[in-house]
Amino acid sequence: MGALALLEPALLARESVSARELARDEEFWFAVRRAYDITPEFIHLESGWFSPVAREVREAQFQYMSRLNEITSFYYRRMYDDEKVRIKRRMAELAGLSPEEFVICRNTTEALNTVILGLELERGDEIVWCEREYPSMKDALEQRAERDGTVNKVIRVPMVPETDSEVVELYEKAIGPKTKAILVSHMIYLTGQILPVRKICDMAHARGVEVIVDAAHSFAHVDYKIPDLNCDYLGTSLHKWLGAPLGTGLMYMRQDKIAKVWPLFADRGFAKDDIRKFEHLGTRPATIEQTLVKSIQFHESIGAERKQERLRYLKNYWVERVASFARVVINTPMKDHQSCGIANVAIEGVEPKAVADYFFDEHRIFTVAVDMGVRVSPNLFTEIRDLDALVRAIEQLSTPATSAG
Ligand SMILES: Cc1ncc(COP(=O)(O)O)c(C=O)c1O
Repeated sequence: MGALALLEPALLARESVSARELARDEEFWFAVRRAYDITPEFIHLESGWFSPVAREVREAQFQYMSRLNEITSFYYRRMYDDEKVRIKRRMAELAGLSPEEFVICRNTTEALNTVILGLELERGDEIVWCEREYPSMKDALEQRAERDGTVNKVIRVPMVPETDSEVVELYEKAIGPKTKAILVSHMIYLTGQILPVRKICDMAHARGVEVIVDAAHSFAHVDYKIPDLNCDYLGTSLHKWLGAPLGTGLMYMRQDKIAKVWPLFADRGFAKDDIRKFEHLGTRPATIEQTLVKSIQFHESIGAERKQERLRYLKNYWVERVASFARVVINTPMKDHQSCGIANVAIEGVEPKAVADYFFDEHRIFTVAVDMGVRVSPNLFTEIRDLDALVRAIEQLSTPATSAG
């Protein structure tokens, strides 16, 4: 029996249980864990890069790969176009979009480079962004500035703001007569901080400024539909929190914006205002797009809200236990609307890399050191005992007797 079928009785038995209550039902989440093949070699708390696909999704992918290998270009010549329509319709439902306003691409990097490098901007036009944006987008913005004379206005946003308006005001203050766009991460990759993107978009639109959202970490992690953000452009990686095969992403563009953005890969076969002009990438493995439907089914069988609540519960579980330890600094805001499953921890006097190495070398806990601390990103397969191990590791390292560098 497949994993999805196995999950069904567990879900049926809990139909009337709220997502918040279910978040702490270890028996249920153990059933979810069994849908994955997770290595026993270490405790995996680094899901921020990408998620594994559930076993059932991987098996579907293998079948698609075998079939494509049998029929080769017959698939692309006779079947791909129709399949693409079907796959996009399914993706559209999940994202709350119409198929005419997004493309399935390879990842966030591709989606947002397309927007950043494709927007019509003149010398002196300004783009506002915060210093903790993802490096690939900063590079794209800096390359654009070097090549075309656009101006980057980089702001600092507090890591733990008191209110949303404090953040929105920082973006608003940075807007000048030449500002054309804001680039903003929905969830900052270093700390898991969620920025008030909807409020930033509403403010920016009132000032005639467009907003490009980097939703790499928020999509299928936090429970929302893309139109809820009211943004103009958005990119995300479906291999992160949706658990789709590596190499799947989504680029959204408001329909009235499509005509003015140049694709990175030219395609003269479509009108300027047709989103499909962005679909041309040359030959690519259609099998990952086919498998996407199975990933969506898996995600929906658990449910977006239940997933969000479980991920938030896992983060709260370990953070609440370590926050009072001496020398421990939590670099993530803890109000529900300000973060979800990811948090960042630092230990005063110990370099983040030494902390991550200590976790791995002494406790077999895999995390990643980033600028200001160690990013911890659990997943649906995380067990409470994994987090208890993390808490013990932090406790040992933060007590004065221990030294890891
Ligand atoms: C905020 C953010 N944007 C973009 C990316 C790039 O994602 P990808 O490598 O899938 O393009 C990442 C990757 O971690 C990220 O965290």
